[in-house]
Amino acid sequence: MRKILVVIIILFANLLSAFSISSKELTRIDSLIHIMTLDEKIGQMTQLCFSTITLDGSKSLDLNVDNFRESVIKYNIGSFLSGSDSYDKWFKFITAIQKIAVEETRLKIPLIIGIDHVHGANYVTEGTIFPHNISLACSFNQQVVAKVATVCAIETAPIGLTWNFAPVLDVGKNPYWPRFYETFGEDPFLCSEMGKTFIKTYEGCPHILPAKLSACAKHFIGYSDPKYGYDRTPSEIPAQVLWEFFVPPFKAAFDAGVKTVMINSGELNGEAVHGSKYLLDTLLRQQLGFKGVVVTDIKDIERLELMHKTVENQKEGTFRSVDAGIDMYMACNSYLFIRNMKELVAEGRISMKRIDESVGRILRLKFELGLFDNPYPSKQLLSKVNQTKNQIEAREVAEESIVLLKNDGILPLSKGKKILISGLGANSKGMLNGPWTFDWLGAPENQQPQNMKSLYESMQDKFGTKNLKYVDLEGINSEKEKKQFIRDAKNSDIILLAVGEKPYSEFMGNINDLTLDKMQLNLMDAAIETGKPVVVVLLEGRPRVFTEQADKINAILFAGYPGIKGAEALVNILSGSVNPSGKLAFTYPLSVGHVSPYYNKPSEYNIYWKNNPVRKNLFPFGQGLSYTNFEYSKLELSDTIFTKDNQEIMATIRIKNTGNLPGKEAVLWYVSDEIGTISRPVTLLKHFEKIDLKEGEEKTVKFIIKPNEQLSYPDKNGCQILENGSFKILVGGLEKRFYINKTNALF
Ligand code: BGC
Repeated sequence: MRKILVVIIILFANLLSAFSISSKELTRIDSLIHIMTLDEKIGQMTQLCFSTITLDGSKSLDLNVDNFRESVIKYNIGSFLSGSDSYDKWFKFITAIQKIAVEETRLKIPLIIGIDHVHGANYVTEGTIFPHNISLACSFNQQVVAKVATVCAIETAPIGLTWNFAPVLDVGKNPYWPRFYETFGEDPFLCSEMGKTFIKTYEGCPHILPAKLSACAKHFIGYSDPKYGYDRTPSEIPAQVLWEFFVPPFKAAFDAGVKTVMINSGELNGEAVHGSKYLLDTLLRQQLGFKGVVVTDIKDIERLELMHKTVENQKEGTFRSVDAGIDMYMACNSYLFIRNMKELVAEGRISMKRIDESVGRILRLKFELGLFDNPYPSKQLLSKVNQTKNQIEAREVAEESIVLLKNDGILPLSKGKKILISGLGANSKGMLNGPWTFDWLGAPENQQPQNMKSLYESMQDKFGTKNLKYVDLEGINSEKEKKQFIRDAKNSDIILLAVGEKPYSEFMGNINDLTLDKMQLNLMDAAIETGKPVVVVLLEGRPRVFTEQADKINAILFAGYPGIKGAEALVNILSGSVNPSGKLAFTYPLSVGHVSPYYNKPSEYNIYWKNNPVRKNLFPFGQGLSYTNFEYSKLELSDTIFTKDNQEIMATIRIKNTGNLPGKEAVLWYVSDEIGTISRPVTLLKHFEKIDLKEGEEKTVKFIIKPNEQLSYPDKNGCQILENGSFKILVGGLEKRFYINKTNALF
């Protein structure tokens, strides 16, 4: 018992120290800055890609020692990023470069190494690949995100990758935007809660001690709603909307103690974010109080010249960006930043004080991560990685993230039925793991893990080869192919199609039409034409439109890119061994001409719409079916009037599982501010919780309403307004009205 207590105390102390820095270390930072040359300081502000120091310039980790020595000894580079390889190669590579950095450089400053482990340890060959964020959000379960963050930390820390460029905190507002799947969906509260959980769990992970890790809140700010949908193109977001919908996830991350922030490569309201003093200094540092390291996105100083055309050359870009507030430049493969910085200092345009601020923050981060004590990968941590256990977690996470959007009763599939399986994703591992898996664009099929199964292979395991027929088709292009498909389906009872999008990243996923491609629609049409029940699994990074077909299809599942155990998870749901419990974290558009009908904007109460019930979306935010039924009743409030700011009202609801199966239910609480000085969203998600209910079981779930937290809203300057008036609380189709009646309500 005493031993356990001691371990707990040590763990706790370590956890606390993960976020603090001793006065001795602060003094060391000061003395380091004092003795550092200008070159050494600028080197700390520069981050290069590993491709500049690998033998063939690729992401595989074979070190070009000469290039590396030049980078750290001649140019004093303090940080590197990216790469993809096995544990063994990562281990040797990081050990070798840290050894040179701490033994051969004048000041022996360790390197900080960044990686995009955005859905598990996705740049390690043996890593556990989880679903992307959009699916995690669909779980509406913070424990699911915590699981992913924990496994990701456990699998990342042993190889000395201390800086993870995750989570993405951009709000998934624009389904055209090719990074939609990297977001936690369209709701700012959901993004905030999921992001906060990821950061706290990842940066505070007790299982990797004494190693420590940093997350990175990205991409600050306004990246995700480019007007034309393309990646890295301009967004136009009014100040009030920015504060209400885009700032909250970042604010939540700062409150959670995130150590670093990455900047949006695009433009916001006419300003290139990387050159905006207002966004990087006034908003980020002063108004939101961020104190950590600000890193640019890749080559973005270059973009100020080449893409935004806000400066004449890179030297001016460097001035703009550093003056605006960046601490580290993700230069990737060029040393130009260093030369430009030196010239700017020599010309007196950038002061040493300004440089020292950034270097101080970077050194502090390195101290906080314990890199000065031990910069090396850890054999001991590596030996603790339990791949089998982690993969089970990957399956459970995928199971909770998959959303059953439609079901006329065909699911779960009955045993003994003959199933035809086809479509782009039916026998593809790449479509399960998705992008950012071993490779930026996702690994080619022949480089996907051996121990992984495609949907077809997993279906064989569950339903037997005898009952399963695989038709290898990505889609249908001609009448002839269609006829052939219909003939192929003749002896099958059910058709299962896995359709969607091949993996893409960033601008590589730009599209002009959200409609699912014609070939795949034709395949669905052919399946529908057989007259047999059709089940569709959507493997896609954003909601691709297929309304005409969706209306005729018997069951539809949204799986996003569900990861290494995605096939098993899907099959468990299709077969009924697992009861689905995901709900949509975004609105599924009905048509491409009307793509942004967020749940919280078009007014249900608009008098002009009352007698004209327009169909607004294919599936609404929060849509998600189960194989059992949940009945909501007795919505009660402990009081109905707030008269003081610090008052709380408790809302309770009874939820009963009235079906014959155990299930999980995501309980989504919305608040509606009925009248506001600034037009208020019809409803806003303010609380969510996932509960387990056995068949017949009933539980009471509560939500504590705090006026300042859930009923106030920001104006265009970011000042929170709390107004008198009537509000409604809505949950599970029930609603109750309550009021704020304070004598001095506006502050
Ligand atoms: C992406 C970032 C990523 C960085 C480093 C950029 O292209 O926008 O999200 O962290 O590359 O890989």
